[in-house]
Amino acid sequence: MFDNLPLWPERASSTAGNVDALYIFLLIVSGLMTLLIFTAVVYFAARYRRRRGVLAEQIEGSTPLELTWSIIPLGVFLVIFAWGAVVYFKSRTPPRDSTEVYVVAKQWMWKVEHAEGQREINELHVPVGRDVKLIMTSQDVIHSFYVPAFRMKQDVLPGRYTVEWFRATKPGTYHLFCAEYCGTQHSGMIGSIVVMEPAQFEAWMSGGTTGPLSATGEKIFAELGCVTCHRADSQGRGPSLQGLFGKPVLLQDGRTVTADENYVRESILDPGAKIVNGFKPVMPTFQGLVSEEQLNALVAYVKSLSSSSAGGVKANAAAVAMPDPAPAKGSQVNQ
Ligand code: CUA
Repeated sequence: MFDNLPLWPERASSTAGNVDALYIFLLIVSGLMTLLIFTAVVYFAARYRRRRGVLAEQIEGSTPLELTWSIIPLGVFLVIFAWGAVVYFKSRTPPRDSTEVYVVAKQWMWKVEHAEGQREINELHVPVGRDVKLIMTSQDVIHSFYVPAFRMKQDVLPGRYTVEWFRATKPGTYHLFCAEYCGTQHSGMIGSIVVMEPAQFEAWMSGGTTGPLSATGEKIFAELGCVTCHRADSQGRGPSLQGLFGKPVLLQDGRTVTADENYVRESILDPGAKIVNGFKPVMPTFQGLVSEEQLNALVAYVKSLSSSSAGGVKANAAAVAMPDPAPAKGSQVNQ
């Protein structure tokens, strides 16, 4: 409806419509309230103006009136709250079978790496109609990954991963902005999201690559000697990483945490922070020894050791190879 209205950015993701609908609702409610208040002000100013010989009559409150102006706004606010919560949780929760893309921000560029190994700078190529989950971190200061056409914005922080996701609904090239002031070249920290037809994307994907990200991670895992303690047969000095990702982990202090991206990251950089139950805090830190890109590769490798996650990556690779990924997508969901 608003595609030709320049006040609205293009709408090119599955969440964009929901965000706009809520926003338009807020505009209408605010507009109606403004109209109501100003009409009342003008009307009452005229109706109850001071007149010669007429004494003001004092009114000491009215219960029905007070109830009305409390209950109606409460109802309106609850609608806004519930509606906003639904839109928020939907846009914050990546679907299970999302394709994963790693993003590293630095002053002043966006570095992108696909699970299949393709790297890009200030560009992100994605197929139309596929759920894409961005796993993002920063090498220096706080940045913010903002794509107006997708109604999507998420801060990118140093020292941890943040996540956002989208499903592009229209092929095209869309603006990517950094939305957090991050230094002198902040305004130049821009790029584009290129949404392609699946067949086109498949052709693009088959271009030069250094191999899957998880394979790079496996190499780093061996080079750093991680493999000597984290053995697959559970006989090592460290916990086995087979099937770990996404599972709950019992810690020495009795807490249970989920082995997600941030857990793996922290365990590499600050191994003492969360000691797995039954193990000793003997692992050295790798802070300063691995770059953000290498960390991403290690996370991807640990993920690939978990059967369900590895299946997810394979299923996505299969979807890339299919001429029409729609049926593949459906069968994935039905699994
Ligand atoms: Cu990065 Cu502003």
